[in-house]
Amino acid sequence: MPIHEIRHPLIRHKLGLMRRADLSTKNFREMAQEIGALLTYEATQDLPLEPARIAGWAGEVDVEKLAGKKVTVVPILRAGIGMLDGVLTLIPGAKVSAVGIARNEQTLQAQPYLEKLVGQLDQRLALIVDPMLATGGSMVATIDMLKQAGARTVRALVLVAAPEGIAAVERAHPDVHIYTASIDDHLNEHGYIIPGLGDAGDRIFGTR
Ligand code: URA
Repeated sequence: MPIHEIRHPLIRHKLGLMRRADLSTKNFREMAQEIGALLTYEATQDLPLEPARIAGWAGEVDVEKLAGKKVTVVPILRAGIGMLDGVLTLIPGAKVSAVGIARNEQTLQAQPYLEKLVGQLDQRLALIVDPMLATGGSMVATIDMLKQAGARTVRALVLVAAPEGIAAVERAHPDVHIYTASIDDHLNEHGYIIPGLGDAGDRIFGTR
């Protein structure tokens, strides 16, 4: 199954706190980053390693290191910025590819307005970060963009996913694995996830 609901106790606890309407911006922001880091840990379990021989304290020692071009993190603006540092805590050498997606009010389609991708995407694992997978429109548009630019392995890290968004990604990109702290119940008539977190961008940036 390409959807992974990570039910680790630390994630359950932190997400429970994030659902509180009275949580401060500071705490909401910190937990978005912390859960981002924990999801990163899960989503990178199969990163390829290569052997290396190094000078250790007691002479030469055989170790392992990450092989190849490694990772690009792809925050979907604006809310994805709220998980970026969490990913970079664990993968400090990752390159960042920023993506901006707006909704065309005529067609209601997700339309890219910013595409600042790193090179050699074919050799990197692309980790998309966006706190809320709601309708899936922005996520599908971002995956389309990454694949058109050459990406072959794409994974998505989201704090909360709606069944509607999961279905949309699975339909368009069945190869893309989604890692989430929670599969929530449904979308309401305004496109908000229920029970969800509210507007994650506003809560991260303190604009509500
Ligand atoms: N975006 C949000 O920030 N929250 C939702 O519930 C859905 C989309």
